[in-house]
Amino acid sequence: MLLPKIQTERLILNKYTEADLDNIKLLLSEPLVWEFSSEQFSSGIYPERIYLQKMLQRYSDGKCSMFALKLNDSRTYIGEAGLLLFDEKINKVEIGFNILPKYWYNGYATEIIKAIIDFLFLSIQIERIEAITVVGNVRSEKALLKAGLKKEKTIENYNKIDGNSIDVFLYSILNQTIYKITTS
Ligand SMILES: CC(C)(COP(=O)(O)OP(=O)(O)OC[C@H]1O[C@@H](n2cnc3c(N)ncnc32)[C@H](O)[C@@H]1OP(=O)(O)O)[C@@H](O)C(=O)NCCC(=O)NCCS
Repeated sequence: MLLPKIQTERLILNKYTEADLDNIKLLLSEPLVWEFSSEQFSSGIYPERIYLQKMLQRYSDGKCSMFALKLNDSRTYIGEAGLLLFDEKINKVEIGFNILPKYWYNGYATEIIKAIIDFLFLSIQIERIEAITVVGNVRSEKALLKAGLKKEKTIENYNKIDGNSIDVFLYSILNQTIYKITTS
């Protein structure tokens, strides 16, 4: 499943293109962005090219993928957000987001998560949205809470990175919750 282009007051979320290679390079080379990653991050000689190719392939296959996140007015790249997983049977998606440290503390993550939620719930009637965040990633937890998700549970030994087990929190929001809020 693919997101459309999403625009908010301050942000624009759109597909990566060849012109974003340097932006991806910047994001991939920023250790603070990957400090709490729940997946093993593969590096190579040109990781940005491998990453971009993967995204472009996913766009043409209509599969979940990340999109470039830019400031509306200047079109400055500030990070990425998108979908990591779509479970058709349960009608649920998992969202992901990574922002360059220089742009933290501005509410950008909260703003784009809210806009993605609006699209998923109101335009295509997804029933459940999830986010996985590594235990200790307080910034991510705060953004998820501010966007309306709630902490559901801890998942222990969710993955192993460099031989070390990592625990994560599962955050979620249900479409019916929003429906209740807006109608009561
Ligand atoms: C998580 C992340 C996307 C948040 O981006 P952001 O644009 O700064 O988020 P927001 O400004 O919308 O909200 C973040 C909240 O965390 C707070 N915060 C930021 N840095 C913090 C820190 N070091 N310690 C505690 N809280 C912090 C912000 O103040 C804000 O909360 P507040 O408004 O209640 O004060 C960003 O930090 C990031 O990209 N981190 C690395 C990648 C990552 O963890 N991705 C998420 C994987 S699930």
